[in-house]
Amino acid sequence: MIVHKLLPLIALGLNLLLLGSALAPDRRSQRNLRFAYLATALAVWNLGVFGLRATADPETALIWQRVLHVGVIPIPVLFYHYVLAFLDLPRRRPELIVGYVLCGVFLAAWPTPAFLHGVTESTWGFMPAAGPLYAPFFVYFQSYLALGLVRLVRAYGSQSSSFKRNRTLLVITGVEVSLLGGIVDIARFMLRWDWLYPIGIPSNAVFALALGVAIVRYRLMDVGVLAKRIVLYLLTSAALAPILFLGLWGLDQVALGRPSASMPADGVGTLTRDAVILLLVFTVALPLLRKLEGGLERLMFRRRHGVRDALVKLIKELGSLLEITALARTLAEGLVTRVPVLSAGLYRYDAAASRFTRLARATSDSADAPATSPVLDKALALWLGMTGRTLIVEETSFRGGAYTKMRAVVAQLEAERVALVVPLFMEGEVTAVLVVGEKLSGEIFDTDEIELLEMLAGETVIALKNAGLYQDLQSRMEELQRTQESLVESAKLAAVGELAASVAHEINTPLMVILGNSNLLLRQLPSNSPASAKVSIIEMEAHRAGKIVRDLLNFARKREPKREQLSAHDVLDRAIDLLGPKLALAHVEVERVFDLSLPAIAGDRDQLTQVFLNLITNAMDAMETGGRVVLQTGIHQGDDGRTMVSVSVSDTGHGIPPEHRARIFEPFYTTKSEGRGTGLGLSVSLGILQMHGGSIEVDSKVGHGTTMRVTVPVW
Ligand SMILES: Nc1ncnc2c1ncn2[C@@H]1O[C@H](COP(=O)(O)OP(=O)(O)OP(=O)(O)O)[C@@H](O)[C@H]1O
Ligand SMILES: [Mg+2]
Repeated sequence: MIVHKLLPLIALGLNLLLLGSALAPDRRSQRNLRFAYLATALAVWNLGVFGLRATADPETALIWQRVLHVGVIPIPVLFYHYVLAFLDLPRRRPELIVGYVLCGVFLAAWPTPAFLHGVTESTWGFMPAAGPLYAPFFVYFQSYLALGLVRLVRAYGSQSSSFKRNRTLLVITGVEVSLLGGIVDIARFMLRWDWLYPIGIPSNAVFALALGVAIVRYRLMDVGVLAKRIVLYLLTSAALAPILFLGLWGLDQVALGRPSASMPADGVGTLTRDAVILLLVFTVALPLLRKLEGGLERLMFRRRHGVRDALVKLIKELGSLLEITALARTLAEGLVTRVPVLSAGLYRYDAAASRFTRLARATSDSADAPATSPVLDKALALWLGMTGRTLIVEETSFRGGAYTKMRAVVAQLEAERVALVVPLFMEGEVTAVLVVGEKLSGEIFDTDEIELLEMLAGETVIALKNAGLYQDLQSRMEELQRTQESLVESAKLAAVGELAASVAHEINTPLMVILGNSNLLLRQLPSNSPASAKVSIIEMEAHRAGKIVRDLLNFARKREPKREQLSAHDVLDRAIDLLGPKLALAHVEVERVFDLSLPAIAGDRDQLTQVFLNLITNAMDAMETGGRVVLQTGIHQGDDGRTMVSVSVSDTGHGIPPEHRARIFEPFYTTKSEGRGTGLGLSVSLGILQMHGGSIEVDSKVGHGTTMRVTVPVW
């Protein structure tokens, strides 16, 4: 029967395809290499069977039997070796060495009658006439397949990644079918069960098919799109083959009127004719083949199309987003809900600080979704920067010392069920990473999808750039607005200052006259006259008006400080002396924490005294029921490297609420009742300190107190 004869050829084709897909992408990968050896052995086996089934001559049949066994003998140990490589298990195992030794022994015995001493004929063609060594060979054959199977099943149980599990499951299924086929085949001729169909070859085809699906859907090996198409095509043909063969069998029966139950010992000539008929049937069945291929393609790539569409849509959406957090969130949530994946996150990388910061992360509602955010290490950024490509977590294995850090990173990512880390480059540097979790479907991201994700990352970079520019523009606009406002403010202030100065100047003359005359009157009047008391009041109020005028003039015309060598402690003592009676009245204690090694400062004695008077007065005003003022001095190293003297004035008052803090240095800003404060104290003090090359800082806690820290340059 032609079905029976051509089956090995199909299996051979599939094996060769597997061999090609193992060697094409990466010839140095241990995993691929082991796989290639196994596929080669399987191919030799199938070739032998094909030859065996094509001949009618027992002599030739024996030769083919021998050829076939060259392939069969190493299969178990090669398979076991591949399983170890596939599961990344250590490969120096005693059982593996024993396996190779046994394989060597059987290969050595292979040409002798102890292994095979001829062929016998059966319904399904020639069968080997087994020698005494064949039974132990059978045990070796099955044990190593079973051993590999056990390892696979165990790994399946412990794998957390769903697509790894799916992939392992496919390999397990393939192996199980193969194992069954092997058992049946060998049992057949050892027990001489002639009636049983030799299912070894079809089961080998199933094994190849299972691996083929694992390649296409679960990246058993990374093959290109073209290779995937070929696998797909062959899978289609294989799926179609039984139908075609059935048709052919019908043709055999009806048209040619040949008996089909028995196996005619026809030669290669008939075979060629059958093949021509087969070709014709293929042509007739082409539409059917197309349909089937379409169905298979949908089955294998359907979800992919969905993913692709989702990604393309997302790429389009990102362009219109101008706010970084909204953009990051849309991206993460879009990936999680539309692809869908277990988790997705966008992380910014700061190369200077070697640190990742999260912009957004989303996780799926699925129970499998990882609860914690992956820990990203700078080794990851270095690797991405160096290779310039996406990190495919399950594919990445690192050899050598330089990658030890990456190994830990990848293990971590695996534990978090991350599938991909896509780098985002700006001017050749990694600026962010897109961390994509495994697909909910348990499938892999194929090359096309990874390319789309990389495009998405590129788009995100542009969007991030735009968002950055937009933010920059916005903050510049705000700054401009602030500058404008402060310009208006200072123009207003300048006007107020000028007005104040001219008014003060104008008022000063009549004030002097009032003071001079009230003084004269006081001296002329008897001290006990009632008029004298009234004139005293006039003189006192004139003095007060004079102080306000002086303050205004001070504020309006900023006088250059007359710098001299001063001791900050002397200036502070002077201010406390001046305030002495007031402090006592307000129940305020003063504590001095002076640094005795303090260097001299360069400043204007009167102006600095005024600064400290203002600060201590404010402190006093803030403690209505009394309290403590601490004056502390010390040395302070400025940002520019200059040595400064710092003086802090701390109180235990009511503190400054945050909403006031920004305004306290504004002129005329006061929270005090009318007549108690003009709001000039701090603005005048700030002006003085700026002219000295110093500064003033506030630190305040509502309900606890305030510290004003002044710095002045040293002499
Ligand atoms: N130590 C402090 N504790 C609490 N609030 C303070 C303190 N120092 C300043 N302030 C707040 O800052 C405001 C501005 O202070 P500033 O010294 O400039 O003006 P003023 O004290 O109100 O009036 P002036 O000093 O002109 O008599 C005050 O009204 C007060 O609200
Ligand atoms: Mg004040």
